[in-house]
Amino acid sequence: MIVGVIGSGGREHAICHALNKSKKIDKIYCFPGNAGTAELAENINLDLNNFENIKDFILNKKIELVVIGPEKPLVDGLTDYLENYDIKVFGPSKVAAQLEGSKIFTKNICKKYNIPTANFGVFNDIIEAKKFLDNSNFPIVIKADNLAAGKGVYICENKQESIQAVKEIFEGKFGEAKNVLIEEFLKGEEMSFFIISDGITFKNFGTAQDHKRVLEGDKGKNTGGMGAYSPSRLINNELEKKILDKIINPTLKAIKDLKKTYKGFLYAGLMITNNEPFLIEYNVRMGDPECQTILPKLNTDFCEVISSCCEGKLKEVKIDWNDKKSLCVVLCSNGYPQAYKKNVEIKNINKIKLKKDDHLFHAGTTKKDDNIIAIGGRVLNFVSLSDNFEEAREGIHQHINNLNWSNGFCRKDIGYKVIVK
Ligand code: AMP
Ligand code: GLY
Repeated sequence: MIVGVIGSGGREHAICHALNKSKKIDKIYCFPGNAGTAELAENINLDLNNFENIKDFILNKKIELVVIGPEKPLVDGLTDYLENYDIKVFGPSKVAAQLEGSKIFTKNICKKYNIPTANFGVFNDIIEAKKFLDNSNFPIVIKADNLAAGKGVYICENKQESIQAVKEIFEGKFGEAKNVLIEEFLKGEEMSFFIISDGITFKNFGTAQDHKRVLEGDKGKNTGGMGAYSPSRLINNELEKKILDKIINPTLKAIKDLKKTYKGFLYAGLMITNNEPFLIEYNVRMGDPECQTILPKLNTDFCEVISSCCEGKLKEVKIDWNDKKSLCVVLCSNGYPQAYKKNVEIKNINKIKLKKDDHLFHAGTTKKDDNIIAIGGRVLNFVSLSDNFEEAREGIHQHINNLNWSNGFCRKDIGYKVIVK
């Protein structure tokens, strides 16, 4: 089978790696990929906004199945576009992708289907928003409606900060804004819950907890994710049942009621308070770095799982996992998530000797001649599976020490809540 993978991060390298293990795979193309995917796939540098070029390439190379990694092409409707040309695509339709593309779309579904989430209000002008803030408790959460690459969320400690956030959103900091979302601040611990769906049925696809802040102790600026571990320390049978009954099933029903189906990964970002789940947000894809953390635990042929979803036959597949603990540490360019140097060589990478349950997934890298060059903020993902999280993390830091890359940094405390030292 010839498969195409869309995206260029650690998530997509992990997807290519999982696909590449399948006997069914003859060839993988990755659009545009990175230095890691280049080892497993042929990287094709196409503009992901140019759907026509992507479609022409896919038809020309007889690509039989396309896996879309990131949210933007999904929200922009790449799945629908390609399916119009009878191309098999793993990823939700444009309407279903609104679960990530519009926070207000999701909040309205929560309201209609009684899905537990933070209380909220939607405001289409600054005067009404200010009036509401006059009577609010703090902290409070202010959000831009649309995709904002993880940046359109403000946690505000007082009225002044809140008004500033509302202003920035209406002034177009995250694109044109007709509305602003104001939410109650939820206390608890966050957890990521994943399912995979073929539009008829769905199966659980693991749990994880990620570390979004740049500094140790979960302090400092928000990032795309500095590391993760799977499974979540919070999951138990009772909680899982609540998540499925109160959140996942009603959401899939809401999509069905819109006369649409949900095909792809669905990632629920949850706040857990006293073993009760509240939905913070949906993502219509795997998480990054959660994908790198979870996929290596999969025993079942990933190509079979994905293909079955595209054929509406997920029910026939048994998804089998190994029960090891998995931990991922992300190595970033110095300066990230603010300005950082690009085009810096990562020497010593071939000195890294991975053991059987270790993985090195590339993110912002490219290959020039035979050298690996860092071109992004998040650069490399080190993943290790072990009987316990502590051993996994120790193994990872040995690799990072051997790499000795002075232009990069990582958090040394990933998984601190599950590693008591
Ligand atoms: P989002 O992009 O909606 O996931 O928000 C980014 C981050 O902001 C989340 O991962 C949470 O840490 C935090 N956050 C968002 N909404 C809330 C809320 N209502 N209460 C507390 N924290 C929140
Ligand atoms: N790790 C957070 C995300 O993928 O959105």
